Amino acid sequence: MIDKKIQDAFNGQINAEIYSSYLYLSMEAYFGSINLPGFANWMRCQAQEELLHAMKFFDFINERGGDVNLTQIDGPPTKWDSPLHAFEEAYKHEQKVTALINGLVDLAIADRDHASANFLQWFVTEQVEEEASAYDVVQRLKLAGDQGGGMFMIDRELATRTFVYPTAGTQGA
Ligand code: FEO
Repeated sequence: MIDKKIQDAFNGQINAEIYSSYLYLSMEAYFGSINLPGFANWMRCQAQEELLHAMKFFDFINERGGDVNLTQIDGPPTKWDSPLHAFEEAYKHEQKVTALINGLVDLAIADRDHASANFLQWFVTEQVEEEASAYDVVQRLKLAGDQGGGMFMIDRELATRTFVYPTAGTQGA
């Protein structure tokens, strides 16, 4: 049985992960509006991953006999100054999520909840990748500067990202 304190914190993380999905969907719409379909594709894949993150917490709370409590999701921003600005914000957002995950790990350890601490390790690893992938695009956009050719190449590359919904028992893609 999951402790109420951990359950409430995990419910808060479900909200944060769905907000992340909302944020990236909003970024997808922004990139679509400025005719960068590859960037938009990258954001769609990212938004889908975030929903999976939320579902991992959802399933874990249920498995441990807790109550899932879904709460209102804030509206994300809808406009950014440039592709670089959007990706800088995505990177900053992932740093915030990393801090949230670290806080949950601290809470689980303080509560001597080894099952939750173990469950959270997947997210600790995932956040390294989440930060790195957003930061990688930030760096490439900085290198490309205002050059249309560079932007076009990055767009073509980001168009190749795919998202495959994991089959039962393999969630964690
Ligand atoms: Fe769910 Fe991008 O962290």
